[in-house]
Amino acid sequence: MTTLEFKNVTKIYNVRGFGQIKALDEVSFTLRSHQTIGLVGQSGSGKSTIAKILTQLETPTRGEVLLDGAPIPRGGKGLRKYRQQLRMVFQDPFASLNPYHSIRHHIERPLRLDKVVPRDQLDDEVRRLLLRVRLEPDAVMERRPHELSGGQRQRVAIARALASRPSLLVADEPVSMLDVSIRLGVLNLLADLQREEGLGVLYITHDLATARHFSDEIMVLNQGKVVERGTADDVILHPHDPYTQELRAASPDPEEFFRDRSARTLGGVR
Ligand SMILES: Nc1ncnc2c1ncn2[C@@H]1O[C@H](COP(=O)(O)OP(=O)(O)O)[C@@H](O)[C@H]1O
Ligand SMILES: [Mg+2]
Repeated sequence: MTTLEFKNVTKIYNVRGFGQIKALDEVSFTLRSHQTIGLVGQSGSGKSTIAKILTQLETPTRGEVLLDGAPIPRGGKGLRKYRQQLRMVFQDPFASLNPYHSIRHHIERPLRLDKVVPRDQLDDEVRRLLLRVRLEPDAVMERRPHELSGGQRQRVAIARALASRPSLLVADEPVSMLDVSIRLGVLNLLADLQREEGLGVLYITHDLATARHFSDEIMVLNQGKVVERGTADDVILHPHDPYTQELRAASPDPEEFFRDRSARTLGGVR
């Protein structure tokens, strides 16, 4: 069991010629393996700042991040171990893969860095990971990212994230840049992997409907503050905060959304 604690984190950006932007205001939550937390909020509410702090692209102005009770080491083996345990899937499947490298290279890299398997098993492991995300290894391994569709690329990004056998995964709007018709397939894949691997997932989205469907708990962020949290059903069905009520009114009814989707899937329109 892995436990990640985000404790009273405040993040202030200093913007030259503008002043200060408080992107996060005393945000706290705990993410454990085997659990999905949906982090919901409109654009600019601070969601990606949380992801950036978790992946150490940014540091908190105040507050701390603890893994199994200990602060994240600043370097050395401890930091490498943290990075192996917490992996990230980014929003943009076009920007997150290197255009010059094959799919095989992308997945082999973390396998080599984290010494996940002996060298003579690299090929097998790459194939296993691609199958895990429902890609045909022989069809994609030697290709470069531009030869793949957005959905296929995002599956590669997920396979790469899983390569190091993490216990936690942060997915920052993982389907918002994909065609609407393939979003549900990628989300279902993430949900299957979460269950099968016992992952703790922070699912970041501006979409309440998918957050409810794919999360155990939901946390609503508004202007850097957590304004609501609870079980997914509670937050959606009985929102206390006016902002959540507004969000809910603005997004399609979750029940309708999925009834509609599955009806269309059954109808054969993908
Ligand atoms: N590097 C940065 N420098 C200055 N301001 C930033 C930076 N990154 C984000 N912000 C600001 O912080 C706030 C939260 O941004 P972000 O975390 O990206 O929100 P979200 O992912 O919910 O859209 C926004 O007001 C944004 O403009
Ligand atoms: Mg964002």
